[in-house]
Amino acid sequence: MYKMDLRSRKLKRTNDSASGSSPDKKRPVTSAQGEPPRPRRDLVVLDAGAQWWRSAVVYQVYPRSFKDTTANGIGDINGIRSQLQYISKLGVNAIWLSPVFKSPMKDFGYDISDYRDIDPIFGNLKDMKALIDEMHFLGLRLILDLVPNHTSNMHEWFKMSVKKEEPFTDFYVWAKPKNVSEAGKEGYVPQPPNNWISVFGGSAWEYSSERGEFYLHQFAKDQPDLNFRNPRVVSAMKQVLKFWLNMGVDGFRIDAVPHLFEDLQLRDEPHSHKEDSKAGQYDFLDHIYTHGLPEVFDIMKEFRNTLDSYSEKTDKIPRLLIAEVYDTVENTVKYYGEGDQPIADFPFNFLLVSEMERNPRADHLKELIDRWMDAIPTGGCPNWVLGNHDKGRVASRIGLNYIDSMNMVVMLLPGVAFTYYGEEIGMEDVNLSWDQTVDPAGINAGQENYMKVSRDPARSPMQWSINKNAGFSESSSTWLPVNQNYLNGINVEDQEHRFSHLQIYRSLIKLRKTDAFLKGGLHTEVFNDGKTFVMSRVFGDSGILAVINMSNERASVDLSSLSDVPDELTVYLSNRQEFIGKSLNKSSIGQSPYQADVLLFKVDVE
Ligand code: GLC
Repeated sequence: MYKMDLRSRKLKRTNDSASGSSPDKKRPVTSAQGEPPRPRRDLVVLDAGAQWWRSAVVYQVYPRSFKDTTANGIGDINGIRSQLQYISKLGVNAIWLSPVFKSPMKDFGYDISDYRDIDPIFGNLKDMKALIDEMHFLGLRLILDLVPNHTSNMHEWFKMSVKKEEPFTDFYVWAKPKNVSEAGKEGYVPQPPNNWISVFGGSAWEYSSERGEFYLHQFAKDQPDLNFRNPRVVSAMKQVLKFWLNMGVDGFRIDAVPHLFEDLQLRDEPHSHKEDSKAGQYDFLDHIYTHGLPEVFDIMKEFRNTLDSYSEKTDKIPRLLIAEVYDTVENTVKYYGEGDQPIADFPFNFLLVSEMERNPRADHLKELIDRWMDAIPTGGCPNWVLGNHDKGRVASRIGLNYIDSMNMVVMLLPGVAFTYYGEEIGMEDVNLSWDQTVDPAGINAGQENYMKVSRDPARSPMQWSINKNAGFSESSSTWLPVNQNYLNGINVEDQEHRFSHLQIYRSLIKLRKTDAFLKGGLHTEVFNDGKTFVMSRVFGDSGILAVINMSNERASVDLSSLSDVPDELTVYLSNRQEFIGKSLNKSSIGQSPYQADVLLFKVDVE
């Protein structure tokens, strides 16, 4: 049994023999070419006592798009409550809820005007409490999305900051115009303090004529950046964390973490010289003064301590802290912290969303997986993100042929798996006209380019059935258009009753309770000239194997080189129904184009 020491957050082995043995680290593995054994990516035990998330599937709900119970075309909290049985039946362990706080919705909830209240579009605090209680009753945990980097410009703090009312004067990042010395002269137009660009494009500075200064906004101009150099801001945010901990939430996904601090001297950022980047676009600059500054880690440690001391004072169950970080792997894994200085439980691993191309090759998939596993610190909990509200859906981004195979990969890799709502039924991005575009990133890009950056296509309403608006809403129109493929089998009701993405998804999650998943080492390998991906999770004499033909050609693979895999294997799951239940010999596994199989030996699935 492993127990969590809350102070150091290190796993300590206790003498409880009932909990099973540790990972089998000595078992050698030879490669296809008979080379010497390569290192196995063995892990700490995943079901690490109180650290419930180490083997969890987290289901991301984008509340506007999940289920509407008020017939206004926008999803709400009671809609989520009404579908908790569905979520629970998927077998997932937690819900990450994108923001439901009070907001003018310029960035659809990521612009918060009151951290302690629920936006009336979504319901109220009572609904939220009921959601939390009902989730807990079903054994589901709730992870809230906290956005500390910025508030809405409609937040009381900002309104008072504009007026220089204490103690809010320095709550935000204010700076004088660059040409302030010319103020008062005829034709004076205030110039931004430096060249910084917002993530959504254009200057990161907006002038307030009332205060006579610019405020920084690393995202939309309606999202002024808080000043985390001001201890009052830090303390206010910790109070927000406590407020929601008292409400019963089980953890937080912290939004836009590397953006929390900027250079005090406000120095210009150098050009990135990235191909295709144009002046005014975020990629045009190298963000050395606005992204990932060392101070960011100190604040995250403070958040960590807030969560840990809450757990210490209450039920001793650690709360989960996830950091949203888009950076190189080397920089991202720093957010795990080290030794006695833990930071987040993990930063999101975005490799599969950011680097996985359309029609990917097996050797690239292997490289991405190995890169993350090799980079994380010893004992660090791996995690796999396949999609989220900021990126295209798997079916559209990677390809229709990879829906099941990608779910297989993330569900069988060790650690935490994230599912963006609708990926379990293979939803696709929706096509939108310029007039239908509401995402600020899309709008800022203009009519010519909006589809390149708009996040609207991946946020379309959940497809529940063949009823009106795919069963999402009774309204005459919905906030984003419903993808019409709900009429062609891409809806929950239909997929409940046939061999489907949904059924494959559920069957995959069942494997996550087995010893092979929880304690098995990870081995990845490619065959068939880089086109077939093979992944094994072997524990003792039991194991799970994923064999995925990622190409558009028939292929046969010989897995004889996998010495810890017996000759006879059973097909537990396949995207080709007729293969399920078959017995195969590992020396000759024939697959159709894009066929994805999960093979088992000595594994009992409940
Ligand atoms: C994060 C969110 C994104 C939001 C941005 C600003 O990246 O995922 O949706 O627009 O932060 O809050």
